[in-house]
Amino acid sequence: MTEPLLELRGVDKSFGPVQVLHGVNLKVYPGQVTALVGDNGAGKSTLVKTVAGIYHADAGEFFFEGKPVTFNGPKDAASLGIEVVYQDLALCDNLDIVQNMFLGREAKTPTRLLDELTMEDRARQTLASLSVRTVKSVRQSVASLSGGQRQTVAIAKAVLWNSRVVLLDEPTAALGVAQTRQVLDLVRRLADQGLGVVLISHNMNDVFEVSDRITALFLGRVAADLKTSDTNNSQIVELITSGRSGSIGISAATANESA
Ligand SMILES: Nc1ncnc2c1ncn2[C@@H]1O[C@H](COP(=O)(O)OP(=O)(O)O)[C@@H](O)[C@H]1O
Ligand SMILES: [Mg+2]
Repeated sequence: MTEPLLELRGVDKSFGPVQVLHGVNLKVYPGQVTALVGDNGAGKSTLVKTVAGIYHADAGEFFFEGKPVTFNGPKDAASLGIEVVYQDLALCDNLDIVQNMFLGREAKTPTRLLDELTMEDRARQTLASLSVRTVKSVRQSVASLSGGQRQTVAIAKAVLWNSRVVLLDEPTAALGVAQTRQVLDLVRRLADQGLGVVLISHNMNDVFEVSDRITALFLGRVAADLKTSDTNNSQIVELITSGRSGSIGISAATANESA
């Protein structure tokens, strides 16, 4: 098995008196889609924001390509090539696609002017490299895009920066069938290009269609970390709703640790 690109060990995170993450371990492999599943409130978004450096973990270790790293802010994650597509997308409706993709990281000419042509070219190339053909012009305002197109732009924005790991928080939650199809194809292509992809989803069809591994969270603890081909829909639903299924689950994991 190849080495994980990104690995988390024993991550704890509390908000005031409420502990949301308990000793979470997560491995993200290059060329694979790791699905992160769990019920509402299980801690998925908190975990993603901790990886992104938005929240500071109270405990735990982070490794990138096997080397220990620290995340003191979003720039630390970005400098390693870790990008997040947030649940609320964080796109600006009043800006066009190019402006959104380069927001805060604009290309400049030698005389410090905005290098619009370079940015347009790179935006076009990035969309083309992802085989995105549904967007007519990169100068279209984001407000005029469909939900699937917006998600596509958000993903393209994340991979514009030589990303190595992309985490997608519920990218298909608000999408119809055809748009979900497009986004899942895109998720698969990212992994096929060698990126480590983390897909958060509630939809078991999506998870089983596109993922290589599944990490299930239950009340902020990892209930199971499985190869997708070694499990099935009903087992994952059980793990999400009760934290255990047959011989696997939180109780078994805890028993193994103390053995
Ligand atoms: N900024 C915050 N302050 C306090 N509690 C939070 C904060 N963010 C999340 N939580 C709590 O942490 C738990 C996990 O939330 P979240 O990570 O959003 O779960 P998920 O994405 O799996 O639905 C929830 O109980 C939520 O209320
Ligand atoms: Mg969430």
